[in-house]
Amino acid sequence: MSDQVHEHRHFIPAMGQQRLLPVYDFTGWLAGVPRMHRTLLDSAAITPGLAVLEIGCGTGNLIIRAARQHPGATLTGLDPDRIALANAGRKVARRGLAVRLDVGYADALPYPDGSQDRELSSLMFHHLDEAGKDGALREALRVLRPGGELHLLDFTGGGHGPMPERIRAGADDRIPDRLRSLGFADVARTAEVRARWGFGTCSIFRGVRSA
Ligand SMILES: C[S@@+](CC[C@H](N)C(=O)[O-])C[C@H]1O[C@@H](n2cnc3c(N)ncnc32)[C@H](O)[C@@H]1O
Repeated sequence: MSDQVHEHRHFIPAMGQQRLLPVYDFTGWLAGVPRMHRTLLDSAAITPGLAVLEIGCGTGNLIIRAARQHPGATLTGLDPDRIALANAGRKVARRGLAVRLDVGYADALPYPDGSQDRELSSLMFHHLDEAGKDGALREALRVLRPGGELHLLDFTGGGHGPMPERIRAGADDRIPDRLRSLGFADVARTAEVRARWGFGTCSIFRGVRSA
């Protein structure tokens, strides 16, 4: 794991509280997260040779799925949570996969301009505050190469049934507007995935960095 961020900043961990991290994978499985990950990877249409970054990779399940499906891609996962990243690192090593894992924050990505072909974000966006959301999208755009694509999966606002209050508070109906106003092209909602057990409904949004 490469650790390029030395400052400590506040962030909301995977289950809202660090002590619940050990049950994240099981809770996610109950809620149907593996199906969401499959749909997100279908949307992203990764091909061999592409550089793929997951922003907010947590315990690594999505980036590991991407590595298994697309061993010819260059895969990186980033998250501020060192404990979650250590968990991801153990899984990567156990499976003998090539995935780089970096400590970092969505609004200060430690990568050069135009260095990624695909960016994935799964269930991370609702962890950010207003400024953090726009900061994250600005950084995502900077790091994409012209023609590169961001595929972002998260909860949108009301009308999607019950969901935990912490998630409802971060759910955002303005994701497509934010993408457009920050300069993404070809913005679209490419899929909707309903979670199980009252966790609400997620949408997948695509934004492209124009050439
Ligand atoms: C619900 S988990 C999702 C993990 C993984 N993407 C998945 O789909 O299973 C949300 C993740 O976002 C991370 N996160 C929170 N604030 C962040 C930030 N400012 N930048 C990047 N990641 C952040 C958390 O540490 C956590 O690992």
